[in-house]
Amino acid sequence: MSEKKVLIAYYSYSGNTKTIAEKIRHITGGQLFEIKTIKEYPRNYTDIVNLAKQEKEQDIKPELANKIDISGYDTIFLGTPVWWYTFATPVKTFLSENDFSGKTIIPFCTHGGGGAYSTYSDMEKLCPDAVIKTGFTSYENSAKESEIEQWINSVK
Ligand SMILES: Cc1cc2nc3c(=O)[nH]c(=O)nc-3n(C[C@H](O)[C@H](O)[C@H](O)COP(=O)(O)O)c2cc1C
Repeated sequence: MSEKKVLIAYYSYSGNTKTIAEKIRHITGGQLFEIKTIKEYPRNYTDIVNLAKQEKEQDIKPELANKIDISGYDTIFLGTPVWWYTFATPVKTFLSENDFSGKTIIPFCTHGGGGAYSTYSDMEKLCPDAVIKTGFTSYENSAKESEIEQWINSVK
């Protein structure tokens, strides 16, 4: 993938998705971008779970603290934890704020046992003009770099 500019954008609340993003960075040499929100999510698990449910139900897109110009990137790895069966709301903001038409999105997610569920199909719904490749799904941060590399080779 070295001939093309690769971006690895991800959101991570508790570090698992960040770990996978860093492995992708190691394999591809792409540019890492951590999606951050202005507000801090509560550290208490019950509180964040409840808040995230509310945000999903009310279609809230939390304001982001940082921005990146994605126009120079053809391929964007996009990582998220699974929140309530889909991508985390900060990723919804990221997808809504940027123009993905003509881009290739290679999604990945980490979950706590329920799998990717609607994560990838919801991305397709939100970004109908992007090409969305087969995603990589990891239970928490357990994916090995060799598995990730195999997936990258299969989607590129
Ligand atoms: C708000 C919230 C909602 C979650 N919803 C799900 C879910 O629907 N299915 C699931 O398998 N895990 C769920 N989890 C667990 C996370 O997906 C899992 O711990 C993930 O690896 C966290 O990634 P991170 O460390 O990058 O934030 C949820 C966690 C949080 C905080």
